[in-house]
Amino acid sequence: MKTNISPLLMAAALSAGSVVSVTFAASPGDAADVQARVDAAKATSGAFLQQLGSTMKREMQAGGPAAAMKVCREVAPRAANEFSLEKGWKVTRVGTRVRNPMLGTPDAWEQRVLLEFEQRAAQGEKFDDMTQVEVVEEPSGKSLRFMKAIGVAPQCVVCHGGADQIPDSVRAELDAMYPHDRAVNYRPGDLRGAVSIKQPLDD
Ligand code: HEC
Repeated sequence: MKTNISPLLMAAALSAGSVVSVTFAASPGDAADVQARVDAAKATSGAFLQQLGSTMKREMQAGGPAAAMKVCREVAPRAANEFSLEKGWKVTRVGTRVRNPMLGTPDAWEQRVLLEFEQRAAQGEKFDDMTQVEVVEEPSGKSLRFMKAIGVAPQCVVCHGGADQIPDSVRAELDAMYPHDRAVNYRPGDLRGAVSIKQPLDD
């Protein structure tokens, strides 16, 4: 069997610095298919983040942190579900430290990529266009996995910053909803997490 992968995927696999199982049949359509899937994942993560960013800004202006809370708490998980259903993929948001362990906890692959994102940032790369693509074989089957980094913006610290940046009313609400909240003490420019997309691939 011949290996036939797109240059982009090869670059992503090499930058991951690990052995990635990428095996496709020799038909010329396959590389194009992978590239199309990567492009589609990029478009979806871009649309997702843009939707969150603009809704967060609007709600914050209209009603402050109390109103903006529902963007991270309701709009984000709902949009992730809608994208998942529409595309037939798994679309999620994961964190380097999580507030909602049920939804935001990265799996082993995602944890590794988050660490690599931190290392890439230390070498000067910006989170704004930082992505990773790999084809992985897991017990559940083969899939194309994609992650897009999410950096911390100044407007995030009112709920994800240090104790002196989170207003008491917000802290009280967070404490009531998230007894195991670890998504604090972030500073603007830190890595907050990633959009993670998993597309099942046929054998
Ligand atoms: C008004 C409060 C508030 C603001 C502002 C806010 N968040 Fe959140 N964030 C939350 C809450 C609440 C959750 C938990 C959501 C849930 O229940 O799934 C959360 C969860 C997350 C998660 C999922 C991982 C986890 O910890 O559970 C990410 C990623 C995230 N926020 C990123 C951001 C980014 C980036 C910004 C700034 C653009 C931001 N948030 C601004 C309240 C906020």
